[in-house]
Amino acid sequence: MMSMNDALDWFQAYTREFESEGGGLEPLLALKWSHSFSVSLEAGRIARGMRFAPDSIVHAEILGLLHDVGRFPQFRDFGTFYDAASVDHGELGWKTVSEALVLSSLEDAARLAILDGIRYHNKKEIPLDIRPSSLGMVRLIRDADKLDVFELVQRYLDEGRIRELLPRIPETWEINGAVVDSLMETGRASYSQVRSVADFLLVQLSWVFDMNYPPAFRRVLDRGVIERIETRLPLEPRVRTIIEKARTFARSSAAEGEVA
Ligand SMILES: [Fe+2]
Repeated sequence: MMSMNDALDWFQAYTREFESEGGGLEPLLALKWSHSFSVSLEAGRIARGMRFAPDSIVHAEILGLLHDVGRFPQFRDFGTFYDAASVDHGELGWKTVSEALVLSSLEDAARLAILDGIRYHNKKEIPLDIRPSSLGMVRLIRDADKLDVFELVQRYLDEGRIRELLPRIPETWEINGAVVDSLMETGRASYSQVRSVADFLLVQLSWVFDMNYPPAFRRVLDRGVIERIETRLPLEPRVRTIIEKARTFARSSAAEGEVA
């Protein structure tokens, strides 16, 4: 059986390759490094909340730690985290971890589930033909990742440093009607429509509709994720409607699986 320590040893050694001599990791890579640990914790919490078997809880934590491994070579080679302008970091991480053989002591289904989790954590949709035995882990990492990015974005906003995190997005607060239109029509919006931090926060809010597990929804509610976004948005009527939909969806999804 593979332990969390095996994954940790590999992750530490791998990411050390990206440190500059004596200088450690660049700030944005250091952020991805700590994000990996936070997502590992979130993933473990969701897995425990879902009463996963002990082995699967460890696998969820390993997946959390490794899900963004592709960010390191992406940033070194392209200087950006913007996949559309560089490389799909899910694919790159999947390839990196596959070739590193770090998961080779795991049985097939568990190994493939972690690899699929890395590969598909950042895709717009989970592919319909995903291995059924991987689906649980793919859903879980997508939830765990979102939970930490909600916190990260709010922290950078609180600290007045959002430009560092979202260098391509102008720090303005006007809402692009096209983002609202597509959120009202489909519940989704594309990053190509994002023209302001407010647009970004609206798209981020719509992540709630793409989440899966009740324990993850409970964290969204406990942490006031929706409310913290709400206080930063211009509350036009249609924006209010989207916020209310997100809140209603999160509440009903959090209650699923609860014993009456
Ligand atoms: Fe990622």
